[in-house]
Amino acid sequence: MSDDLGLIIGSGLAALGPRIVASETVETRFGAPSSPVMTVEIENHRVACIARHGSAHSIAPHEVNYRANVWALHEAGVRRLIAVNVVGAIGAGFAPGDLAVPDQLIDYTSGRESTYGGDDFESLHVEFTEPFDPVLRGQIAVAAVACGHSIRRGVYAVMQGPRLETAAEIDRLERDGCTMVGMTAMPEAVLARELGVDYALLAVAVNYAAGRSPGAAPIHGQIRKSMADGMARVTQLLARLVPELLRGTS
Ligand code: HPA
Repeated sequence: MSDDLGLIIGSGLAALGPRIVASETVETRFGAPSSPVMTVEIENHRVACIARHGSAHSIAPHEVNYRANVWALHEAGVRRLIAVNVVGAIGAGFAPGDLAVPDQLIDYTSGRESTYGGDDFESLHVEFTEPFDPVLRGQIAVAAVACGHSIRRGVYAVMQGPRLETAAEIDRLERDGCTMVGMTAMPEAVLARELGVDYALLAVAVNYAAGRSPGAAPIHGQIRKSMADGMARVTQLLARLVPELLRGTS
């Protein structure tokens, strides 16, 4: 049993590993989700969680069954969903290890199954002016500041991957107004919206985007170096945020 709060964790799942207290393999009408629906215990609260890239981190961003993941969590009772995504930092002053809560996104992906297919005008053309729930965004930001972390906002560029970008592509994303780049916020965010699930994203910068590093460190080296620190911050933040969100519900 979990409350109405759910998590989708991307790279860095290992940080939550010790907190997994139950795990249920499910199938949805859209196929199998990336992982069992896990129950994660955070400060005595139970939260349903799916590992976006699978329990063995073997599912690439373009191969994730986003529809099954969001559907399975909704079936488990999730109505507020926090996604944790690693990103490359584009904007000035944004560096590996930093946290961000994007308030907008631009979708550059293609060919992904991105709708449950509503049967009327309003459910098919969901309103998406604000892709991330403003209340949940604010609550994440408040918890981050309470933990002593500065938190950025900005525009998340969702790239198709799986390769990383060229420097020229990052220049274009910056001209488009993007401040961070990742591969997984879409179609996750819109599928949650279709199901009426409030969705916000906690981004962890693990590298400078292509061509933006002040040094010569290769991107994978940066990721290896900053992942553990970034995820430690996420774990600390969740320990503060989850009880705040679930106060009085369990
Ligand atoms: N680009 C795209 N996705 C990413 C990156 C990046 O630099 N870092 C982490 N996810």
